[in-house]
Formats: sequence, structure tokens, C-alpha cells
Amino acid sequence: MISVFGSKVGQEEIDEVRASLERQWMGIGPKVKKFEEEFTRRLGLTDFAMLDSGSNSLYMAVKLLNLPPGTEVILPSFTWISCAHAVVLCGCVPVFCDVDLDTHNVMSETIEPHITPKTGAIMVVHYAGKPVHMEPILGFGLPVIEDAAHAVDSKLNGKSCGAIGSVGIYSFDAVKNLATPDAGGLTAQDPELVARTRTLRYCGIGKSGFEASANKDRWWEYNIIDFFPRFLPNDITASVALAQLRKLDQNQARRRQIWELYQREFSELGWLVCPMNAAPNEQHSYFTYCIRVSNSRRDRFAKYMYNQGIYTTLRYHPLHLNPIYKSNAKLPVCEQLNEEALSLPLHPSLSESDVAQIIETVKAFRF
Ligand SMILES: Cc1ncc(COP(=O)(O)O)c(C=O)c1O
Repeated sequence: MISVFGSKVGQEEIDEVRASLERQWMGIGPKVKKFEEEFTRRLGLTDFAMLDSGSNSLYMAVKLLNLPPGTEVILPSFTWISCAHAVVLCGCVPVFCDVDLDTHNVMSETIEPHITPKTGAIMVVHYAGKPVHMEPILGFGLPVIEDAAHAVDSKLNGKSCGAIGSVGIYSFDAVKNLATPDAGGLTAQDPELVARTRTLRYCGIGKSGFEASANKDRWWEYNIIDFFPRFLPNDITASVALAQLRKLDQNQARRRQIWELYQREFSELGWLVCPMNAAPNEQHSYFTYCIRVSNSRRDRFAKYMYNQGIYTTLRYHPLHLNPIYKSNAKLPVCEQLNEEALSLPLHPSLSESDVAQIIETVKAFRF
């Protein structure tokens, strides 16, 4: 079975991990610090704190905004669960908005109708790595959380996605563009918020150890600055992240190559709609290749691909349709995507023959 998502690791990751193991140091340490520095440099961030997942980075992002309980946060319904969970877990209320049919991204036009005096923040998701049009959204004057989980290599007008709003988060889970077993991280316009992230991420213990102790005779005493869970990254994960960061260009080039091939091969097929390319002022991350297949053919097409040994999936089943969110929202584009959207395999470990098989199989579909 050809998988829909995947990563590519090799000797570089093994060497980095081995070096940490041989140092007898697996917990948070020099590799985390190094990754934070190299990632900050590569993306041109003010600062960046590594955390243990993108989901927890979202929670941290909402927490950092200090929103009073009951505050509404507007976010797309067409996104991953953790976006809305983070809002709820921080005592706030998720308000789902619609997205654009072509980009699958939120737009100022889909956000604006939901702004009320209770709105405290907006969360945007750069779907598949295609940048959201940020300027009109920033114009609302509300804090904006950027979910750049898909957008580690994306730019808008030369600026890295994640570094445009108030707070930005990244995911480095096992199938993301920069893949590790599980990790994430956070950046912010205000470097104080990144510093706060570093103090919160270890159960809210600001600092510990001799360097930090006020009483040098009792250096084991620490100050707990807040009630906070443990979101600590470690040097084994950071080792993989460092190796992946160094080969990000190479992996991105492969993703782009496959994307362009699909665009060329599929654009003539009348029965599917290809995803939108990056505009001239944008850089895409090609996290997923999400097509649309209309007229009730999507499910049949997915089953056909599966039977031919090619796994596809929908990212994402809209959150407002999930009973846990008790939402009465009517979001026609999200609902249309729920019926028509489908991700085809796109990742750097696809071989030439995998790609050829995918293209051939798609083109052979008859309905
Ligand atoms: C848009 C989006 N946000 C956040 C996350 C959460 O990231 P993680 O899997 O690292 O917790 C994901 C994961 O797939 C995602 O797709």
C-alpha cells in the first residue's frame, strides 16, 4: 500500500541520535537548544521554543494570550482537532468559520461575520502550506494565532508563516515536512512570550538548578511560576529535528517536484479539481495534495484508489460537524469539502515508480 503521508529519514538522523545516546543524555539539553537556534535562523524568527507537539504548542499559544474565560476564538472548521481543543482547554469558546473553496484557507470575509464583542482572538491555518492572506485579517486588530503546522517552509511576501501574527506554532510530528517522532514549537512577535513558553513548558517551573537558585546553599529549591502541564522536548527528538532541518530544502524540492507533476498530469482531467499553486508573493510547503472530486464520486474514487493499493484520506472532517462541539454552524464550503476533498499521497519517500503508479491509477479512474 502506498501511504498518503510519510517522511524520509536516513543516516544523518541515526548519527545525530547516536551522538546523543553516546553522550548518555536523552532529556532536554544541548540538542534542543541547537535546534531552537538553527530553526530560528532558518525561518528568520524573533525566537523559537521547542515543545513536545504541535497540539501542545496550540494550547500554549492560546494560554499565552491570557484570554478571560468564555472569550470567543474564531477558527476554521476545516482543521485538525487540536486547534479547537486548545481553545476549549483554555476555558474559551471556539467559533467556527468557513474557508475558501480554492485555497481551503480562512479569509477575512469568512471571519468577519463571526466577530462580536466577545471575540478575543483569531486562529488561522495555512492549509497544506499555502499562506493565508494575513493582511486583512490582521486589520481586525485582534491577536492572531497562526497554525503553521503545514507551513514550515511557507512564506508570504518573504516572511515565514508563523512569524506574521501574534503567535505562531509548528508541528514536527512523524509525517510533517520536518518530521520527528513527535514535536512542535512556538514563535511570537513579542520575544517575551517565547521566553514565557520556556518557563512554562516544564510544569511551570521557571528555572531550576544551581544557576537559577536565589539561595546558593539550597540550589534544589525552585520557584513554580504557574500551574502548567509538562510540554518538554528532548534531545533525541531534537537530534532528528536537526538532521531533518538540514535536509529540509532537499525534501521540499522533492515534494514540489511531485506536486508539479500531479498539477501537469491532472489539470486536464475534467472530473477533478487540482489544488491552487502558490501566488507570486507566496512560498508553498506542499504538505498535502488535496484535490476535489465532485458529483458524489469522491468516495467511490477513494475506494478505487484503495483497492489499487493507494491510500488517500480527507484532511479534515470539519469540526463543526462533530457532535462534541455542539455547533449549529452552517458552513457551506467546509461542508462541500467534506464531500469532495481528498488528499493524494505526497511525501519525499515516494519513489519514482510510486508516483508513476499514482498518476496512472488516477488517470484510469472511470465512473
Ligand atoms: C493543522 C494542524 N494543526 C496542528 C496539528 C497538531 O500537531 P501535532 O500532531 O504535532 O500535535 C496538526 C497535526 O496534524 C495539524 O494538521
